[in-house]
Amino acid sequence: MKFFLDTADLAEIEEAASWGALAGVTTNPSLYAKIGGKLDDFHNHMKRICDIVGPDCPVSAESVAMTRDEIVADGRKLAEIAPNIVVKIPTMVEGLAATHTLAAEGIPVNMTLCFSVPQALLAARAGARYISPFIGRFDDISEDGLEQVGNIVTAINNYDFTANTANGEQVEIIAASVRSANHVTQCALMGADIATVPFGVLKKMVQHPLTDRGLDSFMKDWEKVANA
Ligand code: E4P
Repeated sequence: MKFFLDTADLAEIEEAASWGALAGVTTNPSLYAKIGGKLDDFHNHMKRICDIVGPDCPVSAESVAMTRDEIVADGRKLAEIAPNIVVKIPTMVEGLAATHTLAAEGIPVNMTLCFSVPQALLAARAGARYISPFIGRFDDISEDGLEQVGNIVTAINNYDFTANTANGEQVEIIAASVRSANHVTQCALMGADIATVPFGVLKKMVQHPLTDRGLDSFMKDWEKVANA
């Protein structure tokens, strides 16, 4: 499983990148608003993220257009920001049509706000490079977000979607709307390719109380050695 950071916060991205386990970044309009982002600085901000993570890490930048022609125009402009930009497009009819056009032009698309197997299969057929099923928001309406991710992984891997990728890899499933380290565990066991996680969850993924306890006892015993 690869890990993406789900944020538009440059300091968080810099810190996570320094840990050596960051494979990409996803953003959305809410995350950009959360950091006080301004409309006319949006493309520059996405460029700054691309520069931090480097050319091998995909950075999802979301289109807020609602018609296929506008999404395609938006997507083409976003793709000009950097070679590692992935255009994030909501799962809807206009989004599928735009994905079909952009994918044919070699522009990778992350189809977002995906909540069902049929949506994921349509996204893959339309040419999406990544598909993002949401866990937390599904749980929020008393559905089982993890079960849905598992179903989507199984359904997508029942078929060959390697034509969607430049290097002949299968389309990748990004587990999104991740709220806990346990979500990451369960998604890894189900074979999700990527988990995109908020920085708070990434920090929790490093931690374990037994690690803290073990470290504490090692430090105390080493003090005895030093004072012996
Ligand atoms: C990722 O691509 C999504 O934008 C994100 O994971 C949504 O997470 P949320 O449901 O916690 O806002």
